[in-house]
Amino acid sequence: MASPKSLPPWLFYDQAGSLLFDQITEVPEYYLTRTERGIFLQSADEIVTRAAAGQRLRVTELGAGSADKTRLLLSSAVRQQGEVVYEPLDVSESALEAARKRIERELPEVRVAPREEDYTLRLDLDPLPAGERRLVLYIGSSIGNFEPAEALRLLETVRAGLRSGDALLLGVDLVKEEATLLAAYDDAAGVTAAFNRNLLVRLNRELGADFVPEAFAHRAVWNAAASRMEMHLESRAAQTVRLAALGLTVGFLPGERIHTENSYKYRHGQAEALLERASFTPSATWTDPCGWFAVCLGRVE
Ligand code: AVJ
Repeated sequence: MASPKSLPPWLFYDQAGSLLFDQITEVPEYYLTRTERGIFLQSADEIVTRAAAGQRLRVTELGAGSADKTRLLLSSAVRQQGEVVYEPLDVSESALEAARKRIERELPEVRVAPREEDYTLRLDLDPLPAGERRLVLYIGSSIGNFEPAEALRLLETVRAGLRSGDALLLGVDLVKEEATLLAAYDDAAGVTAAFNRNLLVRLNRELGADFVPEAFAHRAVWNAAASRMEMHLESRAAQTVRLAALGLTVGFLPGERIHTENSYKYRHGQAEALLERASFTPSATWTDPCGWFAVCLGRVE
């Protein structure tokens, strides 16, 4: 391991990690999911109407979608146009399958067309019939895991896969009081701590490592200068860990950290500026009454 030590956040999402993330979305301190859901409850019809602008919409989601948030948008689309094609894109076949089952059960008017694809590399979408346009969803503050430059690159990749009339719906978490942010990433029930340590459990299983997960403390830190929440795993003592599959032994000093995640928080207007730099035209922004989360629509002219 290099110094300072870090692990990439996509490693969180093995089967156990995906379940733990679902649990995080239900702890009281993690306001993101329920706040964005509130925005959709309030404004899904308006979002869909604006995106469709009188034509038929096809809904393409980056990531396999998170239960009821996507469903709120899809049911608005069903009300407005009858049938809807929904294309979730994800690298995980099991996540796609779960999304397909869930949506088909709950919304029979939606035809689910899953695609196993890494949308961070390129977006290779089927051309649409005339009179149809695409609404790409990138919601849930997923973009928060990317450094500003990478976030821009990702939106440019999305833009390159779209045509005039299409649109992108981007969900970003906003800067707010530090105590609120810290609690969201260090809930009292310890679900986020378990999610963070599950990385070590995964390395033990998949790389034959011998981490003692409890020998690392969960740390959530607000980095104001970079405008991001950080998660770390902090070694409680001097220890060495063997990663058998890599033929590697790694030493930790007491208090030494493994940096496991960045979650960038945007200021009002920043998501729109990012959309503009990626050649989208920001067309509307919806937020919650506290101004904690923003959902921005960017159109392709
Ligand atoms: C799934 C990336 C949006 O950054 O808030 C939740 C992941 N990490 N708690 C986020 C996460 C710790 C989450 N995202």
